[in-house]
Amino acid sequence: MSAGSGQTQATAPKLLAEGVVKRFGTVTALDGIDLVVERNEFVSIVGASGCGKSTLLSLIAGLEEPTAGTLAVDGREILGPGRDRGVVFQQATLMPWLTVQKNVEFALRGESGLSKSERADRAREFLGLVGLAGFEGAHPAQLSGGMQQRAALARSLCYGPDVLLMDEPFGALDALTRRTMQELLLEVWEQHRLTVLLVTHDIDEAVITSDRVVVMSPRPGRVRRIVDVPIPRPRTLASERAPEFREISDEILGLIHEAE
Ligand SMILES: Nc1ncnc2c1ncn2[C@@H]1O[C@H](COP(=O)(O)OP(=O)(O)O)[C@@H](O)[C@H]1O
Ligand SMILES: [Mg+2]
Repeated sequence: MSAGSGQTQATAPKLLAEGVVKRFGTVTALDGIDLVVERNEFVSIVGASGCGKSTLLSLIAGLEEPTAGTLAVDGREILGPGRDRGVVFQQATLMPWLTVQKNVEFALRGESGLSKSERADRAREFLGLVGLAGFEGAHPAQLSGGMQQRAALARSLCYGPDVLLMDEPFGALDALTRRTMQELLLEVWEQHRLTVLLVTHDIDEAVITSDRVVVMSPRPGRVRRIVDVPIPRPRTLASERAPEFREISDEILGLIHEAE
């Protein structure tokens, strides 16, 4: 995976939101969001439903425009979607008529300089990374929800973004599958050290994966507090037994309830 683009400004943070406001008609979804995410940091966003988590992620993905304020990647203003940012949503949104392999290859169609066979190899490599070796020829409907999310993750990683944006990616999965996916995400992060911004309603998931957890408050959406997670890395799900883990989770739960 690439370490970043040639125009990277060494001093700029990976992601920057400054005074970001987003209104939908009379609804103020976000009201003055300031957030800095450093290169290779793993940051989660938690908060009650409707506090603007998805809106913030869409703005960073370049799928929406802010009403006011600035958003930047590597010091460059975000003007739309880009291949420097991969996005994973709650639903895998795979194309049902294509095999898993072809779904991932489709994401590589814009990669100039890749031959057809190199594209196929790259897709296979990333399907292997997410544990789908052997399922390349399957169609999405033949896969479980967890496997579909694995394929969606491969699709978002294969073109080498250095930022991964995830909006409740495991929210529709059963509890056991979710645990497996959290473990996979930790492994992928250890291997590739992407900058990750993860929206989740699962506080334990936020704590186990993240360096920092952004707690938002609703109506209007604001950053209420940013909580550091000083649990040592590399982490696995067993790191939940670290003495700090429950303490930090409880603190975040308290902050969310106070904010409601
Ligand atoms: N496209 C939209 N049109 C109108 N209102 C929207 C739109 N997207 C989000 N909102 C409103 O903005 C607020 C924040 O929504 P959202 O970002 O989806 O919150 P969250 O992801 O934290 O649940 C909510 O009040 C929601 O109804
Ligand atoms: Mg949402």
